[in-house]
Amino acid sequence: MNTLEAINKRHSTRGFSDRQVSKEDLDAILFAGGQAAVGGADFKSMKLYVVQDPALLKEINDTSAKARPGTNPLYNAPTLVVLASSKSILENIEFTNAGCVIENMMIAAADLGIDSIYLWMAMYGINGSPDLVAKLGFPEGFTCVGTMALGYEAQEFRKLKADEQRIEVIYV
Ligand SMILES: Cc1cc2nc3c(=O)[nH]c(=O)nc-3n(C[C@H](O)[C@H](O)[C@H](O)COP(=O)(O)O)c2cc1C
Repeated sequence: MNTLEAINKRHSTRGFSDRQVSKEDLDAILFAGGQAAVGGADFKSMKLYVVQDPALLKEINDTSAKARPGTNPLYNAPTLVVLASSKSILENIEFTNAGCVIENMMIAAADLGIDSIYLWMAMYGINGSPDLVAKLGFPEGFTCVGTMALGYEAQEFRKLKADEQRIEVIYV
């Protein structure tokens, strides 16, 4: 698969099977995250945490769901990658860095035939819970700036993606 095909194939998955991602594929995806563009090359300001323990995944899911009762924010994903950041050397750049890192990982996942979704809700759940922050082991000064679930789609879910330009383009 070439890069443009992987970009087109990536879509948000909202229902995962319990099939786990292999360590080899996971390492390739995490490596892709570390190859992302990061402002000021401040890679030290970020850390990637991999959560696969079912009890901890459930706790993150249930804590995140409190903001919207009745939802299943992690969609039963068997792997959650949590991106934590301290204040960067460049002001207000942390969430932009996170977008670059997570998008790289999602495209790499698509290339490997692995499904993914960017999860903002889980970030709120984690940052709102000192207990979860302690369990994840963030160092002092680090907070979650984004998360991404990985796995294999349980069944075909409604996709928003179509082969069309979704953002208006204006040639000036
Ligand atoms: C920063 C960011 C946060 C997101 N957080 C969530 C989330 O918490 N839950 C969710 O179901 N989708 C989340 N999404 C997925 C978007 O809803 C999705 O990307 C959008 O609907 C376009 O669909 P596609 O990813 O299939 O192309 C998030 C996407 C981004 C970029």
